[in-house]
Amino acid sequence: MAPLIAPLRHDRDHYEMASRDEITAMQTARLAWSLRHTYTNVPHYRARCEAKGVHPDDFRELKDLALFPFTVKDDLRRNYPYGLFAVPMTEIVRLHASSGTTGQPTVVGYTRADIDHWADLVARSIRASGGRPGDKVHVAYGYGLFTGGLGAHYGAERLGCTVIPMSGGQTEKQVQLIRDFRPDIIMVTPSYMLNIADEMVRQGLDPRQTSLRAGIFGAEPWTNAMRGEIERTFGIDAVDIYGLSEIMGPGVANECVETKDGPVIWEDHFYPEIIDPETGEPLPDGEYGELVFTTLTKEGLPMIRYRTRDLTRLLPPTARSMRRMDKITGRCDDMLIIRGVNVFPSQIEEVICRDPTLAPHYELVLTRDGHLDSLTVRVETAPSPFPAPAGTGADPAARAGALKHHIKSLIGISTRVEICAPGSIERSVGKAKRVRDLRPKG
Ligand code: DLL
Repeated sequence: MAPLIAPLRHDRDHYEMASRDEITAMQTARLAWSLRHTYTNVPHYRARCEAKGVHPDDFRELKDLALFPFTVKDDLRRNYPYGLFAVPMTEIVRLHASSGTTGQPTVVGYTRADIDHWADLVARSIRASGGRPGDKVHVAYGYGLFTGGLGAHYGAERLGCTVIPMSGGQTEKQVQLIRDFRPDIIMVTPSYMLNIADEMVRQGLDPRQTSLRAGIFGAEPWTNAMRGEIERTFGIDAVDIYGLSEIMGPGVANECVETKDGPVIWEDHFYPEIIDPETGEPLPDGEYGELVFTTLTKEGLPMIRYRTRDLTRLLPPTARSMRRMDKITGRCDDMLIIRGVNVFPSQIEEVICRDPTLAPHYELVLTRDGHLDSLTVRVETAPSPFPAPAGTGADPAARAGALKHHIKSLIGISTRVEICAPGSIERSVGKAKRVRDLRPKG
């Protein structure tokens, strides 16, 4: 008789262990298919290729990809809603959308095979994070048009886990379900995980005493300092999951729990490049720039050289055969220029996390004084009775002075610092909004 419980499907997928030569051969073949599929079925992309004088036949080896035009978010907007789909609508089994800043959503579509690959890749991601069949997975990414909830859900089911489809929000209920259903893994944005910790403390519960073993955090930038904060608070492994709707959703890349050295890009489905964001020139591995992806297997909405706006660098393989990306330092769009100095919110986050008297709840407020931009860092004091650093005492003015000094010496910008009471900075249930821009428009 066949076993009632299916055996572990396998411990690693083939390309997680393949040689570089094998990966290169597979990518070359799949890229040739993807370029032809897109050229043949997406009139917008064909027109772009014709304008540049390039044809899928010109692609013979990986470096030839650089001949092909980029795709940018605006291409999706201008072809709203379905103009870039490469299959008839009858083959699209699911739509998702991201809201963006302009109000018009970016719409993405998946065929049955796309959904299947996505589930496989999120299953692989959960497994790389230490999840195993039989684990209970609490999904607190939002369900709906956002790809986080359903993406995590299908992957956890595919791995053979028990899914708790909680979605985002209702923080008290999140805590109740974590206490009563005893999940092993949680999938949620890192900023919302900290809200869950606050709620536990408010209810008199110790976040270190939950059943959780690991958290799979993404959908927003977070630093290694924030990882330390979450791991200490909950006594769990905090692992980074990366993805974006235009390319698939969560699970484009995922860190391995045994190394925690940056998400492994699932290169059997997505071909990464790093380019200079100013010139568009490809950069060698190891150099920082803008991350660009080409999908290798997507049918519904293939993407050729999609510019993510995310800034990072490619790193050599470690725990798996595929290359890694460094933690995202920020997005091209998030970079603040304060009196000529470029700064990302993540740099400020790192300085905040160094001070145990401060909570990692913060916002950056931009204002204009005359002709000059000025930045105020609003950060909450930690609710727990950590000792204040020597010499500063508990005096908020002294602590603000200390933070201001550290930001100036480590990042090189002058800021105003406001130390606020616990709970006074607005919380989000999904992606945290770190920057409030109050500068006059225009
Ligand atoms: O945020 C997909 C996702 C859901 C990823 C759940 C991970 C977990 P979008 O809403 O399209 O899709 O936003 C994509 O979010 O270009 C990055 O700027 C940012 N982002 C996503 N994951 C990470 C991460 C989802 N691990 C945009 N680190 C991306 C830093 C991330 N930024």
